[in-house]
Formats: sequence, structure tokens, C-alpha cells
Amino acid sequence: MSDTWLSDTRSSYDTDAPGYAEKVRGLLGGRPYLRASLALFAELVHDAGGGPVADVGCGPGYVTGHLHDLGVDAFGIDISPEMIAIARRDHPGLRFDVGTMTALDLADGSVTGLLAFWSVIHVPDHAVPGVFGQFRRVLRPGGPLLVGFHVGDETRHTSEGYTGRPINVDSHHRPPRKIAGWLRDAGFTIEAELVIGPDEDGPGAVVFARGPA
Ligand SMILES: C[S@@+](CC[C@H](N)C(=O)[O-])C[C@H]1O[C@@H](n2cnc3c(N)ncnc32)[C@H](O)[C@@H]1O
Repeated sequence: MSDTWLSDTRSSYDTDAPGYAEKVRGLLGGRPYLRASLALFAELVHDAGGGPVADVGCGPGYVTGHLHDLGVDAFGIDISPEMIAIARRDHPGLRFDVGTMTALDLADGSVTGLLAFWSVIHVPDHAVPGVFGQFRRVLRPGGPLLVGFHVGDETRHTSEGYTGRPINVDSHHRPPRKIAGWLRDAGFTIEAELVIGPDEDGPGAVVFARGPA
């Protein structure tokens, strides 16, 4: 199977980083269910004793910044150097690293919590178990995990970015039970699932999970 998805995703987000950053600017202000999910995640991190939290596939870093505002020691990782440049520009006090969730450059058990918001959507089915294995590897025992994604059962291809430039990226829409099944296979316990906008055209979901103790 071709693995150009990784380089295609990186180059697409490099091309579209300014347009994407503008599109999502202020997004959380109009998303109460996402804000509530992030507040709950922050509480779980605090309950776990605090410590570093990785926002994997952080894009322009607004979720990383929101977690920081909630008292979480959050840092961001993204495969796109252009996204990371925007995240550093917009959140100069925070740490952002270029990296891929398929091979996280983090020591085993080195983060208290891990969040992946609408970034696993670009990982094809065959690579998801490896990515969730990475999440488990870097999480401290019993650490909280929060995954957000598009709900559905289809793959959508995008060939034009928000500024009209050509890109080449797939987004995989998945039923929550499929994500939950992969997480359980990786050793996680599912603690909660929330479907947001089930009656809308493009529902989303967040799954709260916990690594093995
Ligand atoms: C839809 S955006 C989501 C960004 C942000 N988390 C948000 O909620 O707005 C997907 C992000 O995941 C990043 N990404 C995709 N594949 C990745 C990978 N293998 N490793 C790290 N980041 C990745 C992209 O570069 C992009 O910034």
C-alpha cells in the first residue's frame, strides 16, 4: 500500500496553513461542547497530578493555547512546518515541535495526557493501530487521552485549500465505535463518547480514553 499519505498531508497543510489558521481563528468561542470537553480533559489532567500534555496534530495551536489558559502544561506537535511556524507566531510563550504521530519523538511514559483533535482523520485505516500504539507508548500509566474526529463512514478527498491553492489530502470520517475499537486494541479503556451535532451534515465526536495503569 502506498504511504504517500504522510508526505501529501504534510505538503497540503504547508500549502494551506495560512488559510486554515484563518478559518479556525476564534472557532472555540462558538463551540460550547468542544470547550466543555477541553475543560473536562483539563480537569482529568489536573486529577492525574498535572505535567506535560501533548496536542498531537495541533495545527495553528489554538487548542494548545486554550489548554494552557486552563492551567495545563500543553505543547503542540504537527507534521507541517508551516503550521508550526504559525502556532509559534500566535502563541509565542508555548512550545511547538515539528513531528509525526506515526513516530512521536517523545520518551516512553513522558506525557501526563495526550489530545488529538481532528488530526487522526488524515491517518488511513492501516496506520491507525500504529498511531494509537504511539499514543499509548508516550502516555504515563493511566493518563487521559482525548481524540476528536469527523463522524461518518466515508473518505473525503480535498483538492483545493481555503485560499484556492491545490492540495491533496484525504479525511476519513468514522463511526465512534471504530475509533473506540482501535483504542481498546491499543490497550486503552473508553471512559466517554460524545457525538456533537448528530443531526447536522458533518457531525463530530470526542472520545475520552485512559491508558492502562
Ligand atoms: C484538521 S487539522 C486539525 C488541527 C487542530 N488540531 C484543530 O483542531 O484545528 C489536522 C492537523 O493534523 C496535522 N497532521 C496530519 N497528519 C499528521 C501526522 N501524521 N502527525 C502530526 N500531525 C499531523 C496536520 O498538519 C494538521 O495541522
